[in-house]
Amino acid sequence: MGNGNFYSAAFLLIGMLTWWTQNPQRIPTLSQRLSIPGASGPESLAFDPAGVGPYTGVSDGRIIKWNATLNSWVNFAVTTPNRSGCEGPHDHTQTEARCGRPLGLSSTRFPRKDYQKVISTGDNTGRLMEFNPKTKAVIVIADGLMFPNGVAVGGNGDFVLITETTNGRVLRYWLRSRKLAAGKIDVFTELPGNPDNIRGNKNGEFWVAMNAKSGGNSKYSGLGMAAKLDQNGKIVEVLLDKSGAVWRYASEVDEERKGEFLWIGSVIESAVVKLRV
Ligand SMILES: *[C@@H]1O[C@H](CO)[C@@H](O)[C@H](O)[C@H]1NC(C)=O
Ligand SMILES: *[C@@H]1O[C@H](CO)[C@@H](O)[C@H](O)[C@H]1NC(C)=O
Repeated sequence: MGNGNFYSAAFLLIGMLTWWTQNPQRIPTLSQRLSIPGASGPESLAFDPAGVGPYTGVSDGRIIKWNATLNSWVNFAVTTPNRSGCEGPHDHTQTEARCGRPLGLSSTRFPRKDYQKVISTGDNTGRLMEFNPKTKAVIVIADGLMFPNGVAVGGNGDFVLITETTNGRVLRYWLRSRKLAAGKIDVFTELPGNPDNIRGNKNGEFWVAMNAKSGGNSKYSGLGMAAKLDQNGKIVEVLLDKSGAVWRYASEVDEERKGEFLWIGSVIESAVVKLRV
């Protein structure tokens, strides 16, 4: 084990929505499928300052790092001191509270493993908080949110975007710009799916990973869904893998090398998918 399966030229079933006409159609191909032995749920990805990685947290509480030379994931860190019974083949949701699972929080009522109840019950206990690393103070910026799931700073530091999974939209919290608007929250964009994480790219745009809305418009449904937003919140591109043959249940899309590659994390799958665009 340990080798990501390598597919040379598998073509994606990617459909583009008809209302998106301005950009040339991009049909990504599968570049690599980086399987994770023994764990699942590489929800979120990050590269280090040298561009090495990605790193991701998985269901047994490990943070792992992709080593391209070895063509394999290697252990990087753990999030809890006592690793007894954490790793190996068992239902990791039963041990994640003790073994750790590096993920965001979204509700004060439900633990992470019950995230689907946050949606089905209409839970609105989600909050956006600001942590000051110098003073170690935490302040609540917004509450009453419905499954706030991802955050991204944008507009050269003028605003913070927050995805609201249950409401299928992205909110914008104004930081310092537009003095009159500072501190206000407005709707950045309404989405055709339920969003998970949101990540900026080098052009000031954003990728948001989505899951299909139940009972939503089937034109916008698929097992793999993601959208690119411009800096004003307009949807400029939608990626779909309707059948989920190559990627599905995306929780995050990260751009590498000015969009040459897209990396797709998933809270459910046991692999990270790398697409060549
Ligand atoms: C990958 O693994 C090799 C062999 O252990 C090591 O020499 C190299 O530094 C690793 N690369 C990264 C980026 O960690
Ligand atoms: C580590 O966790 C296991 C399982 O919960 C427990 O039985 C054991 O006592 C713990 N060890 C220490 C040193 O806390």
